[in-house]
Amino acid sequence: MHTVYTIIDDIADNRRIDITQLDTLLKNDDCEADEYLFFKAREAANRVYKNKIYIRGLIEFTNHCKNNCYYCGIRRSNTCIQRYRLSKDEIISCADEGYRLGFRTFVLQGGEDLFYDDDKICDIVSAIKKNHDDCAVTLSIGEKSYESYKMYFDAGADRYLLRHETADKEHYGRLHPPKLSFENRIRCLYDLKEIGYQVGCGFMTGSPYQTTDTIYKDIKFICELEPHMMGIGPFIPHHDTPFAAESAGTAIITLRLIAVMRLLRPCMLIPATTALGTIDHGGREKGILAGANVVMPNLSPKDVRNKYTLYDNKIYAGSEAAEHIRLLKKKFEDIGYEIEISRGDYKDS
Ligand code: 5AD
Repeated sequence: MHTVYTIIDDIADNRRIDITQLDTLLKNDDCEADEYLFFKAREAANRVYKNKIYIRGLIEFTNHCKNNCYYCGIRRSNTCIQRYRLSKDEIISCADEGYRLGFRTFVLQGGEDLFYDDDKICDIVSAIKKNHDDCAVTLSIGEKSYESYKMYFDAGADRYLLRHETADKEHYGRLHPPKLSFENRIRCLYDLKEIGYQVGCGFMTGSPYQTTDTIYKDIKFICELEPHMMGIGPFIPHHDTPFAAESAGTAIITLRLIAVMRLLRPCMLIPATTALGTIDHGGREKGILAGANVVMPNLSPKDVRNKYTLYDNKIYAGSEAAEHIRLLKKKFEDIGYEIEISRGDYKDS
Protein backbone atom coordinates (compact mmCIF):
# COMPACT_ATOMS: atom_id res chain seq x y z
CA MET A 1 0.00 0.00 0.00
CA HIS A 2 2.76 2.34 0.98
CA THR A 3 4.37 2.15 -2.47
CA VAL A 4 1.29 3.53 -4.24
CA TYR A 5 1.52 6.75 -2.21
CA THR A 6 5.24 7.00 -2.87
CA ILE A 7 4.59 6.57 -6.58
CA ILE A 8 1.96 9.31 -6.57
CA ASP A 9 4.32 11.70 -4.77
CA ASP A 10 7.10 10.84 -7.19
CA ILE A 11 4.91 11.58 -10.23
CA ALA A 12 3.66 14.83 -8.68
CA ASP A 13 7.10 16.04 -7.64
CA ASN A 14 9.10 15.03 -10.68
CA ARG A 15 6.47 15.12 -13.43
CA ARG A 16 7.50 11.77 -14.83
CA ILE A 17 6.25 8.22 -14.66
CA ASP A 18 7.76 4.88 -15.62
CA ILE A 19 5.84 1.87 -16.87
CA THR A 20 6.11 -0.04 -13.58
CA GLN A 21 4.64 2.89 -11.70
CA LEU A 22 1.86 3.19 -14.26
CA ASP A 23 1.11 -0.51 -13.99
CA THR A 24 0.93 -0.31 -10.19
CA LEU A 25 -1.41 2.68 -10.34
CA LEU A 26 -3.71 1.08 -12.88
CA LYS A 27 -3.95 -2.16 -10.91
CA ASN A 28 -4.23 -0.49 -7.50
CA ASP A 29 -7.33 -1.54 -5.55
CA ASP A 30 -6.98 0.83 -2.60
CA CYS A 31 -9.68 3.52 -2.90
CA GLU A 32 -7.87 5.75 -0.46
CA ALA A 33 -4.80 5.77 -2.66
CA ASP A 34 -7.07 6.81 -5.55
CA GLU A 35 -8.42 9.62 -3.43
CA TYR A 36 -4.86 10.74 -2.73
CA LEU A 37 -4.05 10.63 -6.46
CA PHE A 38 -7.13 12.74 -7.27
CA PHE A 39 -6.32 15.16 -4.46
CA LYS A 40 -2.80 15.71 -5.80
CA ALA A 41 -4.19 16.18 -9.32
CA ARG A 42 -6.73 18.74 -8.07
CA GLU A 43 -3.97 20.60 -6.29
CA ALA A 44 -1.94 20.73 -9.51
CA ALA A 45 -4.95 21.99 -11.50
CA ASN A 46 -5.78 24.57 -8.84
CA ARG A 47 -2.28 26.01 -8.92
CA VAL A 48 -2.75 26.91 -12.59
CA TYR A 49 -6.50 27.31 -13.12
CA LYS A 50 -7.77 27.89 -9.55
CA ASN A 51 -11.28 26.51 -9.14
CA LYS A 52 -12.37 27.61 -12.61
CA ILE A 53 -13.99 25.32 -15.13
CA TYR A 54 -13.84 26.33 -18.77
CA ILE A 55 -16.86 25.66 -20.97
CA ARG A 56 -17.01 24.99 -24.71
CA GLY A 57 -20.16 24.88 -26.79
CA LEU A 58 -20.03 21.76 -28.93
CA ILE A 59 -21.67 22.00 -32.34
CA GLU A 60 -21.83 18.58 -33.97
CA PHE A 61 -22.49 19.83 -37.47
CA THR A 62 -22.34 16.66 -39.55
CA ASN A 63 -22.49 12.94 -38.84
CA HIS A 64 -21.47 11.97 -42.37
CA CYS A 65 -18.04 10.37 -42.38
CA LYS A 66 -15.85 8.89 -45.09
CA ASN A 67 -13.92 6.80 -42.59
CA ASN A 68 -14.70 3.41 -41.18
CA CYS A 69 -13.10 3.32 -37.75
CA TYR A 70 -14.05 0.04 -36.08
CA TYR A 71 -15.17 1.67 -32.82
CA CYS A 72 -17.22 4.57 -34.09
CA GLY A 73 -21.00 4.65 -34.54
CA ILE A 74 -20.93 7.21 -37.36
CA ARG A 75 -18.51 5.10 -39.44
CA ARG A 76 -19.24 5.03 -43.16
CA SER A 77 -20.54 1.45 -43.24
CA ASN A 78 -23.17 2.03 -40.61
CA THR A 79 -26.30 2.22 -42.73
CA CYS A 80 -28.61 2.17 -39.72
CA ILE A 81 -28.20 5.79 -38.69
CA GLN A 82 -29.94 8.82 -40.06
CA ARG A 83 -27.34 11.19 -41.47
CA TYR A 84 -27.57 14.98 -41.20
CA ARG A 85 -25.67 18.09 -42.12
CA LEU A 86 -26.16 21.58 -40.70
CA SER A 87 -26.19 24.55 -43.05
CA LYS A 88 -23.93 27.52 -42.51
CA ASP A 89 -26.89 29.50 -41.18
CA GLU A 90 -27.81 26.77 -38.73
CA ILE A 91 -24.24 26.58 -37.44
CA ILE A 92 -24.13 30.35 -37.04
CA SER A 93 -27.42 30.35 -35.14
CA CYS A 94 -26.01 27.70 -32.78
CA ALA A 95 -23.01 29.93 -32.10
CA ASP A 96 -25.25 33.00 -31.59
CA GLU A 97 -27.40 31.08 -29.14
CA GLY A 98 -24.26 29.80 -27.42
CA TYR A 99 -22.91 33.31 -27.08
CA ARG A 100 -26.16 34.38 -25.42
CA LEU A 101 -25.79 31.48 -22.97
CA GLY A 102 -22.25 32.55 -22.02
CA PHE A 103 -20.08 30.39 -24.27
CA ARG A 104 -16.93 32.02 -25.61
CA THR A 105 -15.53 28.96 -27.36
CA PHE A 106 -17.32 27.06 -30.10
CA VAL A 107 -16.17 23.62 -31.09
CA LEU A 108 -17.19 22.63 -34.60
CA GLN A 109 -17.02 18.87 -34.64
CA GLY A 110 -18.02 16.49 -37.38
CA GLY A 111 -17.21 13.30 -39.20
CA GLU A 112 -14.79 13.60 -42.10
CA ASP A 113 -17.38 14.92 -44.52
CA LEU A 114 -16.07 16.15 -47.87
CA PHE A 115 -19.30 18.06 -48.47
CA TYR A 116 -17.69 20.77 -46.36
CA ASP A 117 -14.73 21.66 -48.55
CA ASP A 118 -12.02 24.06 -47.40
CA ASP A 119 -13.89 27.11 -48.68
CA LYS A 120 -17.03 26.19 -46.78
CA ILE A 121 -15.11 25.57 -43.56
CA CYS A 122 -13.24 28.88 -43.89
CA ASP A 123 -16.48 30.68 -44.63
CA ILE A 124 -18.16 29.27 -41.51
CA VAL A 125 -15.15 29.95 -39.29
CA SER A 126 -14.75 33.54 -40.45
CA ALA A 127 -18.47 34.23 -40.11
CA ILE A 128 -18.46 33.07 -36.47
CA LYS A 129 -15.31 35.08 -35.71
CA LYS A 130 -16.82 38.14 -37.37
CA ASN A 131 -19.98 37.92 -35.25
CA HIS A 132 -18.08 37.22 -32.03
CA ASP A 133 -14.54 38.52 -32.07
CA ASP A 134 -14.08 37.76 -28.38
CA CYS A 135 -14.60 34.04 -28.98
CA ALA A 136 -12.35 31.14 -29.89
CA VAL A 137 -13.27 28.68 -32.63
CA THR A 138 -12.08 25.12 -32.31
CA LEU A 139 -12.23 22.71 -35.22
CA SER A 140 -12.50 18.96 -34.85
CA ILE A 141 -12.96 17.66 -38.36
CA GLY A 142 -10.25 15.08 -38.74
CA GLU A 143 -7.21 14.54 -40.90
CA LYS A 144 -6.45 17.19 -43.53
CA SER A 145 -3.42 18.44 -45.44
CA TYR A 146 -1.05 21.06 -44.03
CA GLU A 147 -2.45 23.52 -46.60
CA SER A 148 -6.05 22.97 -45.47
CA TYR A 149 -5.13 23.37 -41.81
CA LYS A 150 -3.29 26.57 -42.70
CA MET A 151 -6.31 27.94 -44.57
CA TYR A 152 -8.64 27.34 -41.61
CA PHE A 153 -6.11 28.96 -39.30
CA ASP A 154 -5.83 32.00 -41.54
CA ALA A 155 -9.63 32.19 -41.61
CA GLY A 156 -9.58 32.56 -37.84
CA ALA A 157 -9.66 29.06 -36.32
CA ASP A 158 -7.80 29.12 -32.99
CA ARG A 159 -7.72 25.52 -31.86
CA TYR A 160 -7.92 22.01 -33.27
CA LEU A 161 -8.90 18.75 -31.63
CA LEU A 162 -7.69 15.52 -33.16
CA ARG A 163 -7.39 12.58 -30.84
CA HIS A 164 -4.39 10.45 -31.72
CA GLU A 165 -6.52 7.45 -30.51
CA THR A 166 -3.45 5.35 -29.64
CA ALA A 167 0.28 5.99 -29.86
CA ASP A 168 1.05 2.37 -30.67
CA LYS A 169 1.20 1.74 -34.41
CA GLU A 170 0.08 -1.87 -34.20
CA HIS A 171 -2.79 -0.98 -31.86
CA TYR A 172 -3.75 1.82 -34.25
CA GLY A 173 -4.01 -0.77 -37.00
CA ARG A 174 -6.41 -2.87 -34.92
CA LEU A 175 -8.76 0.08 -34.31
CA HIS A 176 -8.76 1.45 -37.84
CA PRO A 177 -9.06 0.10 -41.39
CA PRO A 178 -5.82 -0.11 -43.44
CA LYS A 179 -6.72 3.07 -45.32
CA LEU A 180 -6.01 5.13 -42.21
CA SER A 181 -2.41 5.41 -41.18
CA PHE A 182 -0.85 6.06 -37.81
CA GLU A 183 1.87 8.12 -39.44
CA ASN A 184 -0.61 10.49 -41.06
CA ARG A 185 -2.47 10.95 -37.79
CA ILE A 186 0.72 11.97 -36.03
CA ARG A 187 1.78 14.13 -38.98
CA CYS A 188 -1.50 16.04 -38.67
CA LEU A 189 -0.91 16.79 -35.00
CA TYR A 190 2.60 18.10 -35.58
CA ASP A 191 1.43 20.18 -38.57
CA LEU A 192 -1.31 21.72 -36.45
CA LYS A 193 1.19 22.69 -33.79
CA GLU A 194 3.59 24.14 -36.30
CA ILE A 195 0.87 26.29 -37.85
CA GLY A 196 0.14 27.79 -34.45
CA TYR A 197 -3.09 26.20 -33.29
CA GLN A 198 -3.75 25.33 -29.69
CA VAL A 199 -3.83 21.57 -30.26
CA GLY A 200 -5.66 18.76 -28.53
CA CYS A 201 -4.97 15.05 -28.81
CA GLY A 202 -6.35 12.15 -26.78
CA PHE A 203 -7.41 8.56 -26.56
CA MET A 204 -10.06 6.20 -25.26
CA THR A 205 -9.53 4.09 -22.16
CA GLY A 206 -10.41 0.41 -22.46
CA SER A 207 -10.42 0.38 -26.24
CA PRO A 208 -10.08 -3.16 -27.61
CA TYR A 209 -6.48 -4.48 -27.49
CA GLN A 210 -5.31 -1.62 -25.23
CA THR A 211 -2.62 -2.67 -22.74
CA THR A 212 -0.55 -0.94 -20.08
CA ASP A 213 2.15 -0.81 -22.69
CA THR A 214 0.00 1.08 -25.23
CA ILE A 215 -1.21 3.45 -22.50
CA TYR A 216 2.38 4.11 -21.53
CA LYS A 217 3.09 4.98 -25.16
CA ASP A 218 0.10 7.36 -25.12
CA ILE A 219 1.53 9.12 -22.09
CA LYS A 220 4.99 9.37 -23.61
CA PHE A 221 3.56 10.63 -26.89
CA ILE A 222 1.53 13.31 -25.12
CA CYS A 223 4.61 14.45 -23.20
CA GLU A 224 6.57 14.69 -26.46
CA LEU A 225 3.89 16.46 -28.48
CA GLU A 226 3.15 18.87 -25.63
CA PRO A 227 -0.42 19.56 -26.72
CA HIS A 228 -2.47 22.33 -25.08
CA MET A 229 -5.45 20.04 -24.61
CA MET A 230 -5.94 16.32 -24.16
CA GLY A 231 -9.17 14.35 -23.95
CA ILE A 232 -9.51 10.94 -22.36
CA GLY A 233 -12.83 9.10 -22.31
CA PRO A 234 -13.84 5.48 -21.93
CA PHE A 235 -14.47 3.39 -25.02
CA ILE A 236 -18.18 2.54 -25.17
CA PRO A 237 -19.33 -0.03 -27.73
CA HIS A 238 -21.80 0.95 -30.40
CA HIS A 239 -24.18 -1.84 -31.45
CA ASP A 240 -23.73 -1.31 -35.20
CA THR A 241 -19.93 -1.49 -35.31
CA PRO A 242 -17.42 -4.35 -35.50
CA PHE A 243 -16.71 -3.72 -31.79
CA ALA A 244 -20.35 -4.18 -30.74
CA ALA A 245 -19.51 -7.14 -28.48
CA GLU A 246 -16.40 -5.64 -26.87
CA SER A 247 -16.54 -4.45 -23.29
CA ALA A 248 -16.52 -0.79 -22.35
CA GLY A 249 -13.72 1.05 -20.62
CA THR A 250 -14.23 1.99 -16.98
CA ALA A 251 -14.65 5.26 -15.16
CA ILE A 252 -11.95 4.50 -12.61
CA ILE A 253 -9.20 3.87 -15.16
CA THR A 254 -10.28 7.03 -17.01
CA LEU A 255 -10.15 9.06 -13.79
CA ARG A 256 -6.73 7.71 -12.85
CA LEU A 257 -5.35 8.61 -16.26
CA ILE A 258 -6.86 12.10 -16.13
CA ALA A 259 -5.15 12.56 -12.76
CA VAL A 260 -1.81 11.21 -13.99
CA MET A 261 -1.87 13.50 -17.02
CA ARG A 262 -2.70 16.49 -14.81
CA LEU A 263 0.31 15.70 -12.62
CA LEU A 264 2.59 15.25 -15.61
CA ARG A 265 1.39 18.34 -17.47
CA PRO A 266 -0.23 20.75 -14.98
CA CYS A 267 -1.15 23.42 -17.56
CA MET A 268 -2.97 21.17 -19.97
CA LEU A 269 -6.65 21.73 -20.68
CA ILE A 270 -8.34 18.43 -19.86
CA PRO A 271 -12.07 17.88 -20.42
CA ALA A 272 -14.36 15.76 -18.30
CA THR A 273 -15.81 14.04 -21.37
CA THR A 274 -19.35 13.15 -22.34
CA ALA A 275 -18.29 9.49 -22.57
CA LEU A 276 -17.21 9.62 -18.92
CA GLY A 277 -20.58 11.16 -18.03
CA THR A 278 -22.28 8.42 -20.04
CA ILE A 279 -20.73 5.38 -18.33
CA ASP A 280 -20.89 6.88 -14.85
CA HIS A 281 -23.68 9.00 -13.43
CA GLY A 282 -21.80 11.97 -12.02
CA GLY A 283 -18.79 11.05 -14.15
CA ARG A 284 -18.23 14.61 -15.25
CA GLU A 285 -18.02 15.86 -11.66
CA LYS A 286 -15.70 12.98 -10.82
CA GLY A 287 -13.56 14.00 -13.80
CA ILE A 288 -13.27 17.53 -12.41
CA LEU A 289 -12.38 16.12 -9.01
CA ALA A 290 -9.66 14.03 -10.66
CA GLY A 291 -8.05 17.10 -12.23
CA ALA A 292 -10.06 17.88 -15.39
CA ASN A 293 -10.88 21.56 -15.97
CA VAL A 294 -13.03 21.73 -19.11
CA VAL A 295 -16.57 20.66 -20.06
CA MET A 296 -18.16 20.73 -23.46
CA PRO A 297 -21.96 20.93 -23.30
CA ASN A 298 -23.92 20.18 -26.44
CA LEU A 299 -24.97 23.21 -28.45
CA SER A 300 -26.20 21.38 -31.55
CA PRO A 301 -29.83 21.90 -32.62
CA LYS A 302 -32.03 19.66 -30.47
CA ASP A 303 -33.39 17.60 -33.36
CA VAL A 304 -29.93 16.30 -34.35
CA ARG A 305 -28.49 15.62 -30.90
CA ASN A 306 -29.60 12.00 -30.83
CA LYS A 307 -28.07 11.40 -34.26
CA TYR A 308 -24.43 12.06 -33.41
CA THR A 309 -24.15 8.58 -31.99
CA LEU A 310 -20.46 7.77 -31.65
CA TYR A 311 -21.41 5.12 -29.07
CA ASP A 312 -24.52 3.69 -27.40
CA ASN A 313 -26.56 5.66 -24.83
CA LYS A 314 -24.61 8.88 -25.39
CA ILE A 315 -26.04 11.49 -23.03
CA TYR A 316 -27.29 14.78 -24.41
CA ALA A 317 -30.10 15.83 -22.06
CA GLY A 318 -30.11 17.64 -18.72
CA SER A 319 -26.91 19.40 -17.78
CA GLU A 320 -25.20 17.96 -20.87
CA ALA A 321 -27.32 20.40 -22.91
CA ALA A 322 -25.88 23.88 -23.37
CA GLU A 323 -29.23 25.54 -22.68
CA HIS A 324 -29.18 24.02 -19.20
CA ILE A 325 -25.88 25.58 -18.28
CA ARG A 326 -27.40 26.69 -14.99
CA LEU A 327 -27.81 23.07 -13.92
CA LEU A 328 -24.16 22.51 -14.65
CA LYS A 329 -23.18 25.64 -12.76
CA LYS A 330 -25.06 24.38 -9.73
CA LYS A 331 -23.48 20.92 -9.94
CA PHE A 332 -20.00 22.41 -10.06
CA GLU A 333 -20.72 24.86 -7.27
CA ASP A 334 -21.73 21.91 -5.12
CA ILE A 335 -18.21 20.52 -5.51
CA GLY A 336 -16.47 23.88 -5.07
CA TYR A 337 -15.93 24.94 -8.68
CA GLU A 338 -17.04 27.90 -10.80
CA ILE A 339 -17.75 28.11 -14.50
CA GLU A 340 -15.75 30.86 -16.16
CA ILE A 341 -17.24 32.99 -18.93
CA SER A 342 -14.19 33.51 -21.15
CA ARG A 343 -12.39 31.96 -24.09
CA GLY A 344 -10.58 29.79 -21.58
CA ASP A 345 -7.20 29.76 -23.29
CA TYR A 346 -4.29 27.55 -22.34
CA LYS A 347 -2.19 29.02 -19.55
CA ASP A 348 1.50 28.79 -20.00
CA SER A 349 2.63 28.96 -16.40
N1 5AD B 1 -16.58 5.15 -27.50
C1 5AD B 1 -15.97 6.23 -26.95
N2 5AD B 1 -15.44 7.23 -27.67
C2 5AD B 1 -15.55 7.14 -29.00
N3 5AD B 1 -15.11 7.95 -29.97
C3 5AD B 1 -15.48 7.44 -31.16
N4 5AD B 1 -16.16 6.30 -30.98
C4 5AD B 1 -16.20 6.08 -29.65
C5 5AD B 1 -16.72 5.04 -28.84
N5 5AD B 1 -17.33 3.98 -29.37
C6 5AD B 1 -14.24 9.10 -29.70
C7 5AD B 1 -12.96 9.00 -30.52
C8 5AD B 1 -13.03 10.24 -31.40
C9 5AD B 1 -13.92 11.16 -30.60
C10 5AD B 1 -14.59 12.22 -31.39
O1 5AD B 1 -14.89 10.29 -30.05
O2 5AD B 1 -11.82 9.04 -29.66
O3 5AD B 1 -11.77 10.82 -31.63
